[in-house]
Amino acid sequence: MAATDWESRLAAIVAEWEEGGRAALEKALTLEEVEAVRGSYLGRKGKLALLLRELGALPLEEKRRLGPRAQDAKRAIEEAAGLREKSLADFLDRAALKPLFNDPTLPGFLPPRGGLHPLTRIVDEVAEILLRLGFDWAEGPLIETERYNFEVLNIPEHHPSRDLMDTFYVSGAKGMVLRTHTSPVQGREMEKRTPPLRIFSPGRVFRRENVDATHSAVFHQIEGLCVDEGIGFADLKGTLEVFLKALLGPETKLRFRPSYFPFTEPSAEVDVQCFSCHGSGCGLCKRTGYIEMLGSGVVHSNVLKACGVDPGRWSGFAFGMGVERIAMLRWGVTDIRAFYESDVRVLGQFSR
Ligand code: DAH
Repeated sequence: MAATDWESRLAAIVAEWEEGGRAALEKALTLEEVEAVRGSYLGRKGKLALLLRELGALPLEEKRRLGPRAQDAKRAIEEAAGLREKSLADFLDRAALKPLFNDPTLPGFLPPRGGLHPLTRIVDEVAEILLRLGFDWAEGPLIETERYNFEVLNIPEHHPSRDLMDTFYVSGAKGMVLRTHTSPVQGREMEKRTPPLRIFSPGRVFRRENVDATHSAVFHQIEGLCVDEGIGFADLKGTLEVFLKALLGPETKLRFRPSYFPFTEPSAEVDVQCFSCHGSGCGLCKRTGYIEMLGSGVVHSNVLKACGVDPGRWSGFAFGMGVERIAMLRWGVTDIRAFYESDVRVLGQFSR
């Protein structure tokens, strides 16, 4: 084959590439389309590949003159195909991650939703039960007088139980304390109302405690009080039985243990059979089979008297429980501080 013939064939291939081949590559939408265009020039039967194979037959001088021109054309096609291939591959990677268009039938992103704090949930649950049993919601101040926090409750000055509840005294306000329990609401409500009365009072209480996994200087209690004619220990037992079964489940078994509180006589601590091991003993109940739930008792006549209620006619029962304690048992929380740190990763697990 003559060199001029070879040269005009190269010119025709280059012209075709410039006029159509390059544009076809730029419009290719799949890797297969890119490969088809490249193959038509450089594949085993590609136009340029065939021509290059025939280059060897030309005289040396012609080879030197025409060879580089053919190589330039080859490189240009190679390069354009490579670029298109790369950009298609990048695009397909992205496309695999993201839909190409908005699909309005896909579920949307839900906005983050708030929820009730676990302690609020316990208070709400307890409130619902006690309201159904005819108890009224009552509230008392967090900064309390020593009279309501102690004296009215039959805890005179120098009584050892004042030391048991390490009290925060308000500096510069004589006789004022941060209430150490919700029991002062008992006295306030007995003075405010006339019996018969049934109240409960949830709220914050304060004690000088060193904070650790099970102690906090600020925590929450719920107080209950019932005063009526002929109220006795049996009424306390029956009410707490109904109440704790409603709160913890109908299988709940109660145990009343003799105890001491200055404002009740007799006094009892109420345990429930461990809901984890059902009484056989486990880590949750510290091998005792029972879990302490609340303090309770028949209201001491001194408390009734101090609040202007005639103990000759009226009697009552009272109970008090820790909200954190119930929440920890309910959800298996092992560190009380989780309730106060406002970590949404923790609190989010309680939202409904
Ligand atoms: N006030 C007690 C405390 O903080 C709890 C308590 C015990 C409340 C017996 C009561 C009761 O009403 O009757 O430990």
